[in-house]
Amino acid sequence: MFFMRRFVGLFLMVVLLSAVVTASQLEIFSWWTAGGEAEALEALIKVFNKYYPDVEVINATVAGGAGTNAKAVLKTRILGGNPPDSFQVHAGMELIDTYVIPGYMTPITNLLEQWGVMDKFPKGILEMCSYEGEIYSIPVNVHRGNVVFYNKKIAEEIGMNEPPKTWDEFIMYLQKAKEKGYVGLALGDKNKWTALHLFETILLGVLGPNDYNGLWKGEVSFNDPRIRRAFEIMNKLLDYVNEDHAALAWQDATRLVYEGKALANVMGDWAEGYLKSVGWEPGKDFGWFAVPETQNAFMVVSDTFGLPKNAPHKENAVKWLKVVASVEGQDAFNPIKGSIPARLDADRSKYDIYLQWSMEDFATKALTPSIAHGSAAPEGFVTTLNDIINRFVTTRDIDSALEELLMAAEDEGYLVE
Ligand code: GAL
Repeated sequence: MFFMRRFVGLFLMVVLLSAVVTASQLEIFSWWTAGGEAEALEALIKVFNKYYPDVEVINATVAGGAGTNAKAVLKTRILGGNPPDSFQVHAGMELIDTYVIPGYMTPITNLLEQWGVMDKFPKGILEMCSYEGEIYSIPVNVHRGNVVFYNKKIAEEIGMNEPPKTWDEFIMYLQKAKEKGYVGLALGDKNKWTALHLFETILLGVLGPNDYNGLWKGEVSFNDPRIRRAFEIMNKLLDYVNEDHAALAWQDATRLVYEGKALANVMGDWAEGYLKSVGWEPGKDFGWFAVPETQNAFMVVSDTFGLPKNAPHKENAVKWLKVVASVEGQDAFNPIKGSIPARLDADRSKYDIYLQWSMEDFATKALTPSIAHGSAAPEGFVTTLNDIINRFVTTRDIDSALEELLMAAEDEGYLVE
């Protein structure tokens, strides 16, 4: 009896102790490892630790832009019943189709209500985080995907004094840069998404925001003749990319601009965070403009965090979400990240001139979801499209690419007539 009681006592102590140990942790999963994004996450964690100093944050990252490797690791963990406490996920299909519909997430509408922040986010972005009337994640930022970043010195040297508005105009400058021995357009498609990223911004231009959005609503056909023009433009651009593009990651390509080797890079504005992290000043060292022919559109890439079912430290995960949703958290994170806050009442004075430009455009331009970053279409379609565009980069065979695109669209049930 005595031994039994001692055993039970010991057992209870172990349970209690392990509860104390595990309750003080929080595992946050993301792919933010590059310059700018890694520091931004650190800044957000710092705000968290200011309010919850007793919680040890485990910053779990898997390198690879746009979640190239992270998404697979995350899926294995979630399927295996071993989710992190919260994870980076794009608003839109990536969240809804991959995690919400299969039942891996907990609705958090009540938390947003409780914190009084329901009306503090743009409606459209919250809708991308919602399914059947419930909100499932909190947007920490809004990135713009259709941006060209360029080296101001090279631009001056080749006489690019005004942002080119059309592809013809831009290609003329790419040619000038090439003649001077520079790479025109830096590309780093070691991970396939960057080529799709470039393609989708071209597609946005040739279709216009309304019809681009129509592709995902079954209103515009993938058989639309204008899509050929997108491939033709991409084909021309490929004459101006760096030879080693297939060996470089996105930040290596952005770095070519910084190193004075390339005129420009089409990238989401995490590139702005990267350029600042290596010491460049927006407006002084580098300039930017909307991808040609997309001036009236804002390609949305919004990172969000939600609450997975079976989060091991649920209480801490909720605390994390509260910080993510807060103005303080967003204003610590976004100026470094190169993104604008999702919160509408953030402190604008904390943002540099590039980000103020982006805020202005976000409020006034047509919003369109990114394919490459998982918002517009389900994962399977994105993967197929990544393959199609990357094959095209190698073969430059427009007819085959169009045929493959049509087949993929048909398989996915999109309009092809
Ligand atoms: C995007 C993500 C950004 C940035 C970028 C490069 O998918 O939304 O926050 O991390 O990838 O990794």
